Amino acid sequence: MTDPEEVLARLVRRALAAELGEEHADADPLIRPSQFADYQSNVALSLARALHQPPREIAAAVAARLAGPAGADDEGAVATAEVSGPGFVNITLRDDWIARQAASQLSDERLGVPLAEPAQRIVVDYSGPNVAKELHAGHLRATVVGEAIVRVLEYLGHTVIRAAHLGDWGTQFGMLIEHAVDIGEHATGEELADGEFTAFYQAARAKFDCDPAFADRARQRVVQLQAGDEQALRLWQVLVEDSMEYLRDVYARLDITLTDADMDPESFYNPMLPDVVAELEAKGIAVISDGALCAFPSGFSGRDGRPVPLMLRKSDGGYGYASTDVAAIRYRLTELNTSRIIYVVGSEQHQHFEMVFAVAREAGWLTEGARAEHAVIGLMTAPGGQRLRTRSGDQIKLVALIDEAVERAEEVIKDRYDDPEVRQPIAEQVGIGALKYGDLSVARDSGYVLDFGRLLALTGNTGPYLQYATARIRSIFHRAGRDPAAATGPITFTEPAERALALRLLGLGRAVGDVAVAAEPHKLASYLFEVASAFTTFYEQCPVVTAKPAIRDSRLALSALTLRILQTGLYLLGIPVPERM
Ligand code: ARG
Repeated sequence: MTDPEEVLARLVRRALAAELGEEHADADPLIRPSQFADYQSNVALSLARALHQPPREIAAAVAARLAGPAGADDEGAVATAEVSGPGFVNITLRDDWIARQAASQLSDERLGVPLAEPAQRIVVDYSGPNVAKELHAGHLRATVVGEAIVRVLEYLGHTVIRAAHLGDWGTQFGMLIEHAVDIGEHATGEELADGEFTAFYQAARAKFDCDPAFADRARQRVVQLQAGDEQALRLWQVLVEDSMEYLRDVYARLDITLTDADMDPESFYNPMLPDVVAELEAKGIAVISDGALCAFPSGFSGRDGRPVPLMLRKSDGGYGYASTDVAAIRYRLTELNTSRIIYVVGSEQHQHFEMVFAVAREAGWLTEGARAEHAVIGLMTAPGGQRLRTRSGDQIKLVALIDEAVERAEEVIKDRYDDPEVRQPIAEQVGIGALKYGDLSVARDSGYVLDFGRLLALTGNTGPYLQYATARIRSIFHRAGRDPAAATGPITFTEPAERALALRLLGLGRAVGDVAVAAEPHKLASYLFEVASAFTTFYEQCPVVTAKPAIRDSRLALSALTLRILQTGLYLLGIPVPERM
């Protein structure tokens, strides 16, 4: 185990047990990074009241144990432990301990990241695509953030079931199919094969809104479709397949690991719907209200104080978005036997999910041992806080956004690469990396302004800065004529920047683990930025290639470990790493 906070927590607990008695061995040692030492423990302050003892006295006893000769420290981790302020214990680690840990991290395949205990089965519901609709800017974050969550959970040893919950069902398909009949199957196929979903959708919508006869036919089509009418089903299938084709391309370009098998479409749940609502009715959770079947989970009331319904079956007998999500959560909990479901979806659906979870709890599907959570995605806006729109007021297509990122990345690296054949693939990785990292580097639930200038900057907490750091380390090895994969310890420190870098590197396991706690990839992004910054300082202050052999080898080992940590971290975030930049 390389995590210093974990090691110190254990040592402080042991000191508490020795000084105050075994019953205190479980206290939270409250280890925090410190401005005045490497870490501090705030445990004395939290125990003082219960023990009726001055906090400084408790702190002094803990500090003496930690650093003393009869020390609780069998690892040789602690150099000094001192009382400060009202009762903090400031702890400084031994240089040789840090160096030893870093060397063993370098020789560890998992880079010191422990496997989760116990491993779980987890559904991650992300991206949220819809048939016959192009992905727009708003889908980007739900896709990119979800992908990072999936990768981190799998790295920690969990079994992850990816689910895109493809919107392939619902009343809008009547309108789409009717439009397809109008323009003919052949023309439909051609238009959609070109990825012109938006135009197709808008044309259907326009007719539906202005032509009552069309709207009537569209409604009948829905009924036919749901009754299994052959022509309706065939046309629906065309829409689904062309949409899948398009999604595969976008996901491949963004390195999103959702496959056809993970689409988990809404229609998949259709056969379960009657049974699900019957169960909820039998349990008294669903009741008829104005002809519709609704659940009124407790705790949800509107502005007028009246309970808010979750619509399970419309008065015309049709099922909607909420019905499907209720069927999906039952299936995931009871058939797939998962103990955690993470929905990576926009903030505007928060109440919907909270109500679905409440129904699942009332129905007894979501029990104490399981967790359902809405990983809220905040809105991405244009500079100035406006909604992201094209000049004509349409939503910005995701593909247009990617193209723009890549074009701008090409501008940034233009001076360095004359040959477009070399430049183009690097620009693709830098542009996409910048766009994705922009989404990942801020808390997922906060709104965020799309500003390409900032995303593509080579300094600061950006994708290109981290990519550039890896390229720079590679070039050190190139100049030294060494292979980073062959670097090994021992590691020794002669400059403070080496120690500071090594101490940062030891934090990888904690950073990765923190992402999993509340599905927050920005915690890993912040960590990688700290690592890259510590490396920049190290690089400025510690010559590597020209140093004396023993020092050079130690610095190469630190550089190799930094490279592997950045590569692994960027892989977990789904950020491409260009060979050179
Ligand atoms: N397709 C939906 C939309 O575009 C998002 C689906 C999210 N997942 C879910 N289980 N409801 O809004």
